[in-house]
Parts: sequence; structure tokens; C-alpha cells
Amino acid sequence: MPTDVRAQSRRNFLRFLAESPLFYGFGGALVAGAARAQDDAVLSGSLKWDKVITSPEQALNVWDFEAVFRERINAGHYAYMAQGSDDFGTIGANRSGFTKIGLRPQRLVDVGNVDLSVEVFGQRLSSPIFMCPVGAQLMFHPEGEVAVARAAKSKNALQMLSTVTNYSVEDVAAARGGPGWFQLYSTSDWPSTERMLKRAEDAGCTAVGWTVDIPVRNLEPVSRFDRDNDPLCQACHAGMPTNAFEMRHMFDGVDMTKVRMGLAGLTWDYVDRLKRATKMKVMLKGIQTREDAARCLEHGADGIIVSNHGGRADETNRGTIECLPEVVEAVRGRVPVFVDGGIRRGTDIFKALALGATAVGIGRPYIWGLGAFGQPGVERVLDLLSRELRIVMTQMGAPTIADISRTSLELP
Ligand code: FNR
Repeated sequence: MPTDVRAQSRRNFLRFLAESPLFYGFGGALVAGAARAQDDAVLSGSLKWDKVITSPEQALNVWDFEAVFRERINAGHYAYMAQGSDDFGTIGANRSGFTKIGLRPQRLVDVGNVDLSVEVFGQRLSSPIFMCPVGAQLMFHPEGEVAVARAAKSKNALQMLSTVTNYSVEDVAAARGGPGWFQLYSTSDWPSTERMLKRAEDAGCTAVGWTVDIPVRNLEPVSRFDRDNDPLCQACHAGMPTNAFEMRHMFDGVDMTKVRMGLAGLTWDYVDRLKRATKMKVMLKGIQTREDAARCLEHGADGIIVSNHGGRADETNRGTIECLPEVVEAVRGRVPVFVDGGIRRGTDIFKALALGATAVGIGRPYIWGLGAFGQPGVERVLDLLSRELRIVMTQMGAPTIADISRTSLELP
């Protein structure tokens, strides 16, 4: 997209932000309220550090990438990344949930060797941080999901690929050169769903996470962009297929005019169906309650991802870290429980692990890294979070992931 069009697009978006009750002005500069709600620390960070970094190595924390992302990514795509449901209450709760939990350091433990590695479904990973499925990553970088796959490979991290990936599961798997996970959005057409599962399995995915948290939702920011009539959006999309499904290769060969994506009419027996259809481990993504956790186990789920889609699904005003304990309690160690939503610091990861998570997912932080600098940006995000986790494990006297326990927490 030409620079003047991009600049105009950003100006228009900032005007929209200024006029919206969801967004706030700060220190003469406009800061997106979405970013503020999800990441209060953007503001405190901007007090301490007003320079936008120019290379991944300069980043001191994950928000440093958000600032670059905000500068480089056009307004419509920024809104897609940042948006949350209704008034961003759940996005805010995802962050504030972590700040309500205190930490109880244990002194004089031998933490000379801190080991972050974990085993998940038989796969040894260098840290308990995995990269959540985020759709349509061409919006953020020309190499999209492939750049993320390369970063996953170089850092021995886990990548979970979205159904609405812009690169095929085969291309992404080739770039990763090792196992990954696949995220499933179900459709009204079982044969095409079965075909997606088969493709993911053949590409070496070891687990599939069926996302169950958006039967319907209310997202406003992206709706402000009238892509088909807005000249700025059109300039950006020039030469691209008008039908987004042409860029969503999991649906190649499927007539999407006849097939609906979504959960309409689906109930718990779909889990049994998935179990029968694939050798991959079957997880449910978007679980928030003990009742649903129990149902997952009744239907043979191999894992549970506590998630609210990064505050982009239902407006519960409940952070995932607040949902995690009841799910862990219901599961009683029978299958691994994962959690994502608002994880921005090593201390957040530590708190989730101490509450019983086997590993934690990040969404927006690695997307900021991707949009800012491509593969090196994603790598630096993983490095920074690992560094911070190592620091807090040292402070809390937990040399391995297995040593992290609830005794380190002061719960509200
Ligand atoms: C998502 N998420 C998501 N989840 C999913 O199951 N399939 C998908 O295609 C997407 N796409 C998507 C796009 C964007 C732009 C975002 C921000 C998120 C949700 C994602 O997997 C994860 O649950 C959250 O992103 C975790 O919260 P944080 O880390 O973004 O706060």
C-alpha cells in the first residue's frame, strides 16, 4: 500500500479512536483504548520509554513491539488485532486478573540451574509458552504463519495453527520442521471438516483444539471499516481475492457459498465424533467453567484450553486466570489444562503454572512481534517472556517447572 494511503488510513483511524468512548488520549498522544484496556502497562511503559524501537534486540518487554506494530500495520488490521467484544471488559479482566494475585518468594533455594523445559503430549519444549492460533496472519506480515513456524522451530516452541491460516498447514509444517497443533473451527459440512483433520494429521500435527467459544459475538471496531467501499481499505486489498476464503487454504476445494462456519446445532457428541475421526489428541479451546471441564472429560477430551479468545468472544468480565482454578479442580490432573488470555509477563506465566496449567498460550504478543519485525520479532518475544519467567522462577525458589506450586501465590 502506498505510504500516503497508509498515513491517511492511520489518521482516519486515530480520528475514529478520538471520537470513540472506548479510547483515551494520553500525554498528547492518542493511545488505543483497546490496547489500554488489555494492557494497562502500555501506559506505564510509555511513561518510562517514549522511543519506538527499531530492532527486535532493543525490546525490553513485549509492549515495545506493540508500539512498532501500531506504527507499521494499517488501521483496519490494527483494529482486527486489538478488538474485543462489547466494551473490552473481558480483555481488561484478562490483565487485571493477574494483578490481583500476589507472589510469595522462597529464599535461599539452590536455583543455580533454572530449567524452563516441559513435556506436553510427549513433546519436549524449551519453555511452557506456546503460540495460540491467530487467523489470517498475512494481515501482519507477508510471511505470516510461515515466519511464525520458523520462529517456533528456532526456539523449539509450539505453534498452534488456525483453521483460517493464510498459508497451508503443509507449508507451515514444512517451515516448522517438527510437530505442531491445529486449531479447528467446525463447519456445517462434516466431510470438509474430516478432510481438514486428515490434512493436519498428515502434516504432523499431534493435537487438535476445537474452538467452542464463539457461537456468536459482538465486535465493533472492525465493523467501522467498510472494506468494500472505503478507498483506503480497497487500496490495501488491491489485487487480492475479494473472497477471503480463497486465501484460507484449509478450505481449498470447498464451496464456501454452501458451507457455514460456526457452532450452530453442535453439541457435546461432536467431541465423540472428533475423537473417532482423528488420531490427534483432541482438546477443547474456550472452556471457562468446572461444569464444561467435567463434560470435556466425560466425552474423552485429551486436554482443555481455558480461554475466552483473548476477550473477543463473550463479554464475561472474567479473566481466564480467574477461570483456571475451577477447571483445574474439576480435572484433577487427568488431562493437561492450558490457559491463554492477557499473558504479557513472566510473572503471569508463573501464576498460571502455579494454578495448575501445564503450559500457557500467547496470542497478541507474538503477533506484535510478527507485525513489527517478522520472524526475529516473534523470536524476541519468546526470548523476553522466557527470560522473565526464568527471573521469577529464581526469585520464587523454583528451579524447574515441576517445582512451581500454589504455595508461591497469595490469592485474592
Ligand atoms: C485470535 N484467537 C483465535 N483463536 C482461535 O481459536 N482461532 C483463531 O483463528 C483465532 N484468531 C485470532 C485472531 C486474533 C487477531 C487474536 C488476537 C486472537 C484467539 C487466540 O487463539 C487466543 O485465545 C488469544 O489471542 C489469547 O489472548 P491474548 O494473548 O491475545 O491476550
